[in-house]
Amino acid sequence: MLRLRMKFLGILLLCSFVSADFPAKTFKVELKRPSSYRWKGLSKIIDATAVRTAISDLARRSIQPENMYFLARKIAVKALSRLPKSQKKEIVGLAKELKTDIADIMLFNFLYERTTFRDGTSIIAQDSNGHIFHGRNLDNTYSADFRNLTIEVQFVRRGKVVFQGTTFVGYIGLWNGMKPYKFAITANERDAGGWWESMVAARSGNLPVSWLVRRTLERCKDYDSALYRLVGTPLINGANILLSGIEKDQGISITRNRLGPQYMAILSNKTNTWYLVDTTADPGTDPSRKDTRSTAQRSLDETGQKRICLNELFKVLSVPKVLNRETIYTTVMDTAQPSQYKSIIRTG
Ligand SMILES: *[C@@H]1O[C@H](CO)[C@@H](O)[C@H](O)[C@H]1NC(C)=O
Ligand SMILES: *[C@@H]1O[C@H](CO)[C@@H](O)[C@H](O)[C@H]1NC(C)=O
Repeated sequence: MLRLRMKFLGILLLCSFVSADFPAKTFKVELKRPSSYRWKGLSKIIDATAVRTAISDLARRSIQPENMYFLARKIAVKALSRLPKSQKKEIVGLAKELKTDIADIMLFNFLYERTTFRDGTSIIAQDSNGHIFHGRNLDNTYSADFRNLTIEVQFVRRGKVVFQGTTFVGYIGLWNGMKPYKFAITANERDAGGWWESMVAARSGNLPVSWLVRRTLERCKDYDSALYRLVGTPLINGANILLSGIEKDQGISITRNRLGPQYMAILSNKTNTWYLVDTTADPGTDPSRKDTRSTAQRSLDETGQKRICLNELFKVLSVPKVLNRETIYTTVMDTAQPSQYKSIIRTG
Protein backbone atom coordinates (compact mmCIF):
# COMPACT_ATOMS: atom_id res chain seq x y z
CA MET A 1 0.00 0.00 0.00
CA LEU A 2 2.74 2.37 1.03
CA ARG A 3 4.69 1.48 -2.06
CA LEU A 4 1.72 2.11 -4.22
CA ARG A 5 1.25 5.47 -2.64
CA MET A 6 4.90 6.30 -3.13
CA LYS A 7 4.55 5.38 -6.77
CA PHE A 8 1.50 7.58 -7.08
CA LEU A 9 3.32 10.45 -5.40
CA GLY A 10 6.23 9.94 -7.77
CA ILE A 11 3.94 10.23 -10.76
CA LEU A 12 2.36 13.36 -9.34
CA LEU A 13 5.76 14.91 -8.76
CA LEU A 14 6.83 13.99 -12.23
CA CYS A 15 3.72 15.62 -13.67
CA SER A 16 4.40 18.89 -11.98
CA PHE A 17 7.87 18.94 -13.55
CA VAL A 18 6.81 17.88 -17.02
CA SER A 19 6.53 21.28 -18.49
CA ALA A 20 7.81 22.24 -21.88
CA ASP A 21 8.78 25.73 -20.72
CA PHE A 22 12.43 26.48 -21.40
CA PRO A 23 14.84 29.36 -20.79
CA ALA A 24 15.58 31.75 -23.65
CA LYS A 25 19.01 31.49 -25.27
CA THR A 26 21.49 34.25 -24.53
CA PHE A 27 23.40 36.27 -27.10
CA LYS A 28 26.16 38.74 -26.24
CA VAL A 29 26.53 42.03 -28.10
CA GLU A 30 29.91 43.72 -27.65
CA LEU A 31 29.26 47.47 -27.60
CA LYS A 32 32.83 48.26 -28.58
CA ARG A 33 32.26 46.63 -31.95
CA PRO A 34 31.21 48.79 -34.92
CA SER A 35 27.41 48.81 -35.37
CA SER A 36 27.48 46.68 -38.53
CA TYR A 37 29.08 43.79 -36.62
CA ARG A 38 27.12 43.89 -33.39
CA TRP A 39 24.85 40.95 -34.31
CA LYS A 40 27.54 38.85 -35.94
CA GLY A 41 27.30 35.23 -34.82
CA LEU A 42 23.59 35.41 -33.99
CA SER A 43 22.67 32.96 -36.75
CA LYS A 44 24.86 30.35 -35.02
CA ILE A 45 22.59 30.09 -31.99
CA ILE A 46 19.28 30.00 -33.87
CA ASP A 47 17.69 28.09 -36.71
CA ALA A 48 18.34 30.73 -39.37
CA THR A 49 16.12 29.19 -42.04
CA ALA A 50 13.10 29.06 -39.74
CA VAL A 51 13.80 32.63 -38.59
CA ARG A 52 13.94 33.91 -42.17
CA THR A 53 10.57 32.38 -42.96
CA ALA A 54 9.02 33.67 -39.74
CA ILE A 55 10.27 37.25 -40.23
CA SER A 56 9.08 37.47 -43.80
CA ASP A 57 5.65 35.96 -42.90
CA LEU A 58 5.23 38.31 -39.98
CA ALA A 59 6.30 41.38 -41.97
CA ARG A 60 3.75 40.50 -44.65
CA ARG A 61 0.99 39.97 -42.13
CA SER A 62 1.63 43.33 -40.49
CA ILE A 63 0.32 45.17 -43.54
CA GLN A 64 -3.42 45.54 -44.00
CA PRO A 65 -4.83 45.43 -46.63
CA GLU A 66 -2.35 42.85 -47.90
CA ASN A 67 -1.98 44.30 -51.37
CA MET A 68 -0.32 47.33 -49.78
CA TYR A 69 2.66 45.16 -48.84
CA PHE A 70 4.73 46.26 -51.84
CA LEU A 71 4.06 49.91 -51.16
CA ALA A 72 4.92 49.44 -47.48
CA ARG A 73 8.22 47.82 -48.46
CA LYS A 74 9.17 50.84 -50.53
CA ILE A 75 8.34 53.20 -47.69
CA ALA A 76 10.29 51.00 -45.27
CA VAL A 77 13.43 51.17 -47.40
CA LYS A 78 13.06 54.98 -47.63
CA ALA A 79 12.65 55.17 -43.86
CA LEU A 80 15.84 53.13 -43.44
CA SER A 81 17.84 55.78 -45.28
CA ARG A 82 16.64 58.38 -42.78
CA LEU A 83 17.64 56.46 -39.67
CA PRO A 84 20.59 57.60 -37.57
CA LYS A 85 23.78 56.05 -38.92
CA SER A 86 24.40 53.58 -36.11
CA GLN A 87 20.86 52.12 -36.20
CA LYS A 88 20.97 51.93 -39.97
CA LYS A 89 24.25 50.04 -39.85
CA GLU A 90 22.93 47.68 -37.22
CA ILE A 91 19.83 46.87 -39.26
CA VAL A 92 21.84 46.30 -42.42
CA GLY A 93 24.30 44.12 -40.49
CA LEU A 94 21.49 42.15 -38.93
CA ALA A 95 19.78 41.53 -42.28
CA LYS A 96 23.10 40.30 -43.64
CA GLU A 97 23.71 38.03 -40.65
CA LEU A 98 20.24 36.48 -40.93
CA LYS A 99 20.29 36.57 -44.76
CA THR A 100 16.87 38.21 -44.73
CA ASP A 101 15.38 40.88 -46.89
CA ILE A 102 16.17 44.37 -45.59
CA ALA A 103 12.64 45.72 -46.20
CA ASP A 104 11.16 42.85 -44.18
CA ILE A 105 13.52 43.54 -41.27
CA MET A 106 12.50 47.20 -41.34
CA LEU A 107 8.79 46.35 -41.40
CA PHE A 108 9.37 43.87 -38.62
CA ASN A 109 11.05 46.54 -36.46
CA PHE A 110 8.65 49.35 -37.24
CA LEU A 111 5.29 47.85 -37.91
CA TYR A 112 4.79 44.41 -36.70
CA GLU A 113 4.61 45.52 -33.14
CA ARG A 114 1.76 47.82 -33.99
CA THR A 115 -0.71 45.08 -34.74
CA THR A 116 0.39 42.43 -32.33
CA PHE A 117 2.16 43.26 -29.10
CA ARG A 118 -0.93 44.68 -27.57
CA ASP A 119 -1.31 42.17 -24.81
CA GLY A 120 0.50 40.93 -21.80
CA THR A 121 0.83 41.67 -18.14
CA SER A 122 3.57 43.70 -16.48
CA ILE A 123 3.99 43.99 -12.74
CA ILE A 124 6.16 45.98 -10.36
CA ALA A 125 5.94 44.90 -6.72
CA GLN A 126 7.64 46.19 -3.59
CA ASP A 127 8.09 44.06 -0.47
CA SER A 128 7.82 45.38 3.10
CA ASN A 129 11.53 46.25 3.14
CA GLY A 130 11.23 48.37 0.03
CA HIS A 131 12.89 45.77 -2.23
CA ILE A 132 11.47 46.00 -5.75
CA PHE A 133 10.68 43.15 -8.17
CA HIS A 134 9.62 43.60 -11.77
CA GLY A 135 8.19 41.05 -14.19
CA ARG A 136 6.14 40.60 -17.31
CA ASN A 137 4.37 38.26 -19.68
CA LEU A 138 4.51 39.12 -23.35
CA ASP A 139 1.45 37.86 -25.20
CA ASN A 140 0.80 37.88 -28.90
CA THR A 141 -1.70 36.45 -31.35
CA TYR A 142 1.12 34.78 -33.30
CA SER A 143 2.83 33.43 -30.23
CA ALA A 144 3.76 30.13 -31.94
CA ASP A 145 5.94 31.99 -34.43
CA PHE A 146 7.58 34.11 -31.79
CA ARG A 147 8.56 31.50 -29.22
CA ASN A 148 11.51 30.33 -31.29
CA LEU A 149 12.57 33.92 -31.95
CA THR A 150 12.83 34.91 -28.30
CA ILE A 151 16.35 35.67 -27.05
CA GLU A 152 18.04 37.29 -24.13
CA VAL A 153 20.69 39.79 -25.13
CA GLN A 154 23.55 40.92 -22.93
CA PHE A 155 25.15 44.16 -24.06
CA VAL A 156 28.71 44.01 -22.83
CA ARG A 157 31.72 46.28 -22.78
CA ARG A 158 35.02 44.45 -22.37
CA GLY A 159 33.09 41.44 -21.18
CA LYS A 160 31.15 43.26 -18.48
CA VAL A 161 27.34 43.45 -18.79
CA VAL A 162 26.30 47.10 -19.19
CA PHE A 163 22.64 46.25 -19.64
CA GLN A 164 20.57 43.30 -20.78
CA GLY A 165 17.17 42.61 -22.18
CA THR A 166 14.74 40.27 -23.90
CA THR A 167 13.66 40.53 -27.50
CA PHE A 168 13.01 38.63 -30.75
CA VAL A 169 15.63 37.76 -33.33
CA GLY A 170 15.39 40.44 -36.02
CA TYR A 171 14.67 43.33 -33.65
CA ILE A 172 17.39 45.71 -32.66
CA GLY A 173 15.18 46.98 -29.82
CA LEU A 174 14.24 45.35 -26.51
CA TRP A 175 10.79 44.63 -25.06
CA ASN A 176 12.10 44.64 -21.52
CA GLY A 177 15.44 45.03 -19.90
CA MET A 178 17.54 45.95 -16.93
CA LYS A 179 20.52 48.12 -16.13
CA PRO A 180 22.17 46.34 -13.18
CA TYR A 181 21.77 48.17 -9.86
CA LYS A 182 19.96 51.07 -11.61
CA PHE A 183 16.59 50.41 -13.20
CA ALA A 184 14.38 47.99 -15.17
CA ILE A 185 11.81 48.58 -17.91
CA THR A 186 8.95 46.62 -19.48
CA ALA A 187 7.05 47.93 -22.50
CA ASN A 188 4.02 47.13 -24.59
CA GLU A 189 2.49 48.67 -27.66
CA ARG A 190 -0.89 50.30 -27.58
CA ASP A 191 -2.90 50.36 -30.76
CA ALA A 192 -2.51 53.68 -32.48
CA GLY A 193 -4.08 53.72 -35.91
CA GLY A 194 -3.00 52.53 -39.36
CA TRP A 195 0.47 51.36 -40.41
CA TRP A 196 0.90 54.44 -42.58
CA GLU A 197 0.50 56.66 -39.52
CA SER A 198 3.36 54.81 -37.82
CA MET A 199 5.43 55.18 -40.98
CA VAL A 200 4.80 58.91 -41.15
CA ALA A 201 5.79 59.19 -37.49
CA ALA A 202 8.92 57.14 -38.21
CA ARG A 203 9.87 59.55 -40.98
CA SER A 204 9.76 62.38 -38.45
CA GLY A 205 12.31 60.53 -36.33
CA ASN A 206 9.90 58.98 -33.80
CA LEU A 207 11.09 55.68 -32.33
CA PRO A 208 9.49 52.25 -32.01
CA VAL A 209 8.98 51.66 -28.28
CA SER A 210 11.40 48.71 -28.26
CA TRP A 211 14.14 51.04 -29.52
CA LEU A 212 13.33 53.56 -26.83
CA VAL A 213 13.68 50.84 -24.20
CA ARG A 214 17.12 49.90 -25.48
CA ARG A 215 18.27 53.48 -25.87
CA THR A 216 17.16 54.32 -22.34
CA LEU A 217 19.07 51.34 -20.95
CA GLU A 218 22.10 52.29 -23.00
CA ARG A 219 22.24 55.99 -22.27
CA CYS A 220 20.55 56.75 -18.94
CA LYS A 221 22.61 56.63 -15.79
CA ASP A 222 19.82 56.43 -13.25
CA TYR A 223 16.11 56.02 -12.57
CA ASP A 224 15.28 59.73 -12.87
CA SER A 225 16.93 60.25 -16.22
CA ALA A 226 15.34 57.03 -17.50
CA LEU A 227 11.94 58.32 -16.40
CA TYR A 228 12.48 61.63 -18.15
CA ARG A 229 13.46 59.93 -21.41
CA LEU A 230 10.63 57.37 -21.34
CA VAL A 231 7.99 60.02 -20.74
CA GLY A 232 9.17 62.57 -23.28
CA THR A 233 10.65 60.81 -26.33
CA PRO A 234 8.32 60.83 -29.38
CA LEU A 235 7.18 57.30 -30.37
CA ILE A 236 5.73 55.88 -33.57
CA ASN A 237 2.80 54.41 -31.58
CA GLY A 238 1.27 54.64 -28.14
CA ALA A 239 2.81 52.46 -25.45
CA ASN A 240 2.46 51.26 -21.91
CA ILE A 241 5.72 51.40 -20.02
CA LEU A 242 6.64 50.31 -16.50
CA LEU A 243 9.86 51.59 -14.96
CA SER A 244 11.32 50.45 -11.65
CA GLY A 245 14.43 51.35 -9.68
CA ILE A 246 16.10 49.96 -6.57
CA GLU A 247 15.14 52.53 -3.99
CA LYS A 248 11.90 52.54 -2.02
CA ASP A 249 8.88 53.63 -4.08
CA GLN A 250 10.84 53.80 -7.35
CA GLY A 251 8.16 52.42 -9.62
CA ILE A 252 5.93 54.06 -12.20
CA SER A 253 3.42 53.03 -14.83
CA ILE A 254 3.27 55.32 -17.86
CA THR A 255 0.48 55.14 -20.43
CA ARG A 256 1.66 57.04 -23.48
CA ASN A 257 0.48 58.29 -26.81
CA ARG A 258 2.95 59.21 -29.56
CA LEU A 259 4.07 62.45 -27.99
CA GLY A 260 3.73 62.05 -24.25
CA PRO A 261 1.96 60.61 -21.21
CA GLN A 262 -1.79 60.19 -20.78
CA TYR A 263 -1.93 58.50 -17.37
CA MET A 264 0.67 57.72 -14.78
CA ALA A 265 0.58 55.79 -11.50
CA ILE A 266 3.34 55.39 -8.94
CA LEU A 267 4.32 53.01 -6.16
CA SER A 268 3.69 54.43 -2.71
CA ASN A 269 4.31 52.32 0.34
CA LYS A 270 2.70 54.94 2.51
CA THR A 271 -0.68 54.60 0.83
CA ASN A 272 -0.31 50.82 0.56
CA THR A 273 0.20 50.91 -3.20
CA TRP A 274 2.80 48.16 -3.12
CA TYR A 275 2.28 46.94 -6.67
CA LEU A 276 1.46 48.27 -10.13
CA VAL A 277 -0.21 46.01 -12.68
CA ASP A 278 -0.39 46.91 -16.32
CA THR A 279 -2.33 44.81 -18.79
CA THR A 280 -2.03 47.14 -21.75
CA ALA A 281 -5.77 47.68 -22.06
CA ASP A 282 -6.64 51.30 -21.41
CA PRO A 283 -8.64 51.62 -18.23
CA GLY A 284 -12.26 50.81 -18.96
CA THR A 285 -11.82 49.36 -22.46
CA ASP A 286 -11.31 45.72 -23.38
CA PRO A 287 -13.24 43.63 -20.80
CA SER A 288 -11.12 40.46 -21.24
CA ARG A 289 -7.96 42.41 -20.45
CA LYS A 290 -9.61 43.97 -17.43
CA ASP A 291 -10.29 40.46 -16.30
CA THR A 292 -6.60 39.63 -16.64
CA ARG A 293 -5.72 42.66 -14.58
CA SER A 294 -8.09 41.73 -11.77
CA THR A 295 -6.81 38.14 -11.80
CA ALA A 296 -3.24 39.40 -11.39
CA GLN A 297 -4.30 41.83 -8.66
CA ARG A 298 -6.18 39.14 -6.77
CA SER A 299 -3.18 36.85 -6.97
CA LEU A 300 -0.87 39.59 -5.67
CA ASP A 301 -3.27 40.36 -2.82
CA GLU A 302 -3.32 36.68 -1.88
CA THR A 303 0.48 36.57 -1.92
CA GLY A 304 0.76 39.69 0.20
CA GLN A 305 3.47 42.32 0.48
CA LYS A 306 5.38 40.41 3.16
CA ARG A 307 5.78 37.31 1.00
CA ILE A 308 6.43 38.82 -2.39
CA CYS A 309 9.76 37.84 -3.98
CA LEU A 310 10.97 36.92 -7.46
CA ASN A 311 9.63 33.36 -7.20
CA GLU A 312 6.22 34.51 -6.01
CA LEU A 313 6.10 37.06 -8.82
CA PHE A 314 6.82 34.29 -11.30
CA LYS A 315 3.93 32.34 -9.77
CA VAL A 316 1.58 35.31 -10.20
CA LEU A 317 2.65 35.49 -13.85
CA SER A 318 1.79 31.78 -14.16
CA VAL A 319 -1.80 31.97 -12.88
CA PRO A 320 -4.32 30.97 -15.58
CA LYS A 321 -5.58 33.97 -17.59
CA VAL A 322 -2.44 35.93 -16.70
CA LEU A 323 -0.60 33.04 -18.35
CA ASN A 324 -2.58 32.07 -21.42
CA ARG A 325 -2.22 30.42 -24.81
CA GLU A 326 -0.85 33.61 -26.32
CA THR A 327 1.92 34.07 -23.76
CA ILE A 328 5.29 33.89 -25.48
CA TYR A 329 7.61 34.42 -22.54
CA THR A 330 7.82 35.48 -18.90
CA THR A 331 10.67 37.64 -17.61
CA VAL A 332 11.40 38.40 -13.96
CA MET A 333 13.97 40.99 -12.87
CA ASP A 334 15.53 42.01 -9.59
CA THR A 335 17.67 45.05 -10.37
CA ALA A 336 19.44 44.93 -7.02
CA GLN A 337 20.40 41.30 -7.77
CA PRO A 338 21.03 41.35 -11.52
CA SER A 339 22.05 37.68 -11.80
CA GLN A 340 18.44 36.76 -11.05
CA TYR A 341 17.30 38.05 -14.46
CA LYS A 342 15.41 35.27 -16.15
CA SER A 343 13.32 34.88 -19.33
CA ILE A 344 11.35 31.67 -19.70
CA ILE A 345 9.58 30.71 -22.90
CA ARG A 346 6.06 29.52 -22.07
CA THR A 347 4.53 26.68 -23.93
CA GLY A 348 1.19 26.28 -22.25
C1 LIG B 1 5.76 49.76 4.02
O1 LIG B 1 4.47 49.70 4.59
C2 LIG B 1 4.28 48.60 5.46
C3 LIG B 1 2.83 48.53 5.86
O2 LIG B 1 2.30 49.78 6.11
C4 LIG B 1 5.25 48.71 6.64
O3 LIG B 1 5.09 47.61 7.50
C5 LIG B 1 6.67 48.74 6.10
O4 LIG B 1 7.61 48.94 7.14
C6 LIG B 1 6.86 49.83 5.05
N1 LIG B 1 8.13 49.65 4.42
C7 LIG B 1 9.00 50.62 4.20
C8 LIG B 1 10.29 50.26 3.56
O5 LIG B 1 8.79 51.79 4.49
C1 LIG C 1 10.44 25.82 -32.85
O1 LIG C 1 11.62 25.06 -32.72
C2 LIG C 1 11.41 23.71 -32.45
C3 LIG C 1 12.76 23.06 -32.19
O2 LIG C 1 13.74 23.52 -33.05
C4 LIG C 1 10.65 23.07 -33.60
O3 LIG C 1 10.39 21.72 -33.34
C5 LIG C 1 9.33 23.81 -33.80
O4 LIG C 1 8.65 23.32 -34.92
C6 LIG C 1 9.56 25.29 -33.98
N1 LIG C 1 8.27 25.97 -33.98
C7 LIG C 1 7.93 26.88 -34.88
C8 LIG C 1 6.55 27.48 -34.77
O5 LIG C 1 8.66 27.25 -35.77
